[in-house]
Amino acid sequence: MGLRVLVIGGGGREHALAWALARSPHVAQVYVTPGNAGTTWPAGGSAAWRAPAQSIPLADNDVPSLVAFAVEHRIDLAVVGPESALAAGVVDAFQAQGLRIFGPMRAAAQLETSKAFAKTFMRERGLPTAAFEVFDDFEAARRFIQSQNRPLVIKADGLAAGKGVIVCDGPAEAEQAVRRILVEREFGAAGARVLIEERLVGSEVSVLAFSDGRSTAVMPPARDHKRLADGDQGPNTGGMGAFTPVPDLDTSDVERIRRTILQPVIEGMAELGTPYQGVLYAGLMLTANGPQVLEFNCRFGDPETQVILPLLDTPLDAILLACIEGRLDQIDIRWHTGVSATVVVAAPGYPGAYPKGLPLTGLNAPLFASDDVTVFHAGTTGSPERPETSGGRVLAVTGRAEDLAGALARAYAGVEQIHFPGMHYRRDIGGARPAVEADVPTEAVRFEG
Ligand code: AMP
Ligand code: GLY
Repeated sequence: MGLRVLVIGGGGREHALAWALARSPHVAQVYVTPGNAGTTWPAGGSAAWRAPAQSIPLADNDVPSLVAFAVEHRIDLAVVGPESALAAGVVDAFQAQGLRIFGPMRAAAQLETSKAFAKTFMRERGLPTAAFEVFDDFEAARRFIQSQNRPLVIKADGLAAGKGVIVCDGPAEAEQAVRRILVEREFGAAGARVLIEERLVGSEVSVLAFSDGRSTAVMPPARDHKRLADGDQGPNTGGMGAFTPVPDLDTSDVERIRRTILQPVIEGMAELGTPYQGVLYAGLMLTANGPQVLEFNCRFGDPETQVILPLLDTPLDAILLACIEGRLDQIDIRWHTGVSATVVVAAPGYPGAYPKGLPLTGLNAPLFASDDVTVFHAGTTGSPERPETSGGRVLAVTGRAEDLAGALARAYAGVEQIHFPGMHYRRDIGGARPAVEADVPTEAVRFEG
């Protein structure tokens, strides 16, 4: 009897989780709540050993309904995608029912849900991070800004869907940012407190690790492209593309980050009495003084997951269960040695207002039969045969190859198969030039484990 698995969430990250789990020889059935048009497929799918998946229309933070569903459908393993579900206490509720769930309990997820908690924790533990102060009073914050003679970053304390961070050039801008958060309450209760941070310079990288509450196992480091337009221009988005691994960190750098940042966090959380089981995601800036932590997330990244999981060569369920059961140090996690890159295809108008219900075509192009070019749905709805757009980030198309150029060529060749009115995407993911006439290999590339 194979495992019955539940993936909580409905975006590209959750499609990638469902895809990875369904490829495992141990998995019999995957459910995704609420999922999208890409997370329903029949047994067999495009490969005979693929477990069937089904989207179930339950909101990712409707904790009582998720628990009831898991009990009724005898779920053996659940995995949480979005932070909103962690903040709603889904892990606590599943554990109270004796259900196996991968992700941190609400108290441990404060590392993401409260920036003040995370920064204070880092300061107390001597972890490398930008200098900061926390304020709940506008006048005190204003006086502090006036006393600082350096560029600052202003952040709302709570969850603000990635929008609560304002990188400022001067004191007037910083004061205005504090006013928006603390006085005008642009981010609601998330802005009851504000953090004022020293502004760092460097390149950014996401280093994610699995943890069972005691030990850590790192994934290949990824780089996410957050700005909307080519050349890192335009507004910030949820992420327009990503690639892994990144050329500016080698294996020993990543191991040092694990040993000096991720592992101490896990040990510190255990000492506080809030052991941390799940994915710990460090958003780092590689500065002249070494890697500095910008933030922690308590979950897989989006779109990082869409590039990291295609390189995973160990069944994902085996890793998640080892974390839940406190025996992560007993399993050997293998990764392909290649490179993976993803290009996000967005709706017209995104990240501002955008239309919904645009028909999508090209998703069944022969190219996608290859394991090296995969479409992950994000903002889609409807049947798998007649999908429509329902979100701003609509799809992520991932290519995998021996090197970055090959991975990008495959991802862009995949994008060119797809159509919906007004679709747009960056053409410089991974530093790529427009891959208009990409030479796409048709042979499956061999990876050494
Ligand atoms: P966060 O949600 O805290 O990761 O912040 C979002 C983005 O704001 C980061 O990806 C950085 O690009 C930028 N940022 C955050 N903190 C700082 C900082 N202290 N210095 C410079 N840029 C920052
Ligand atoms: N890629 C950024 C995030 O998942 O928060």
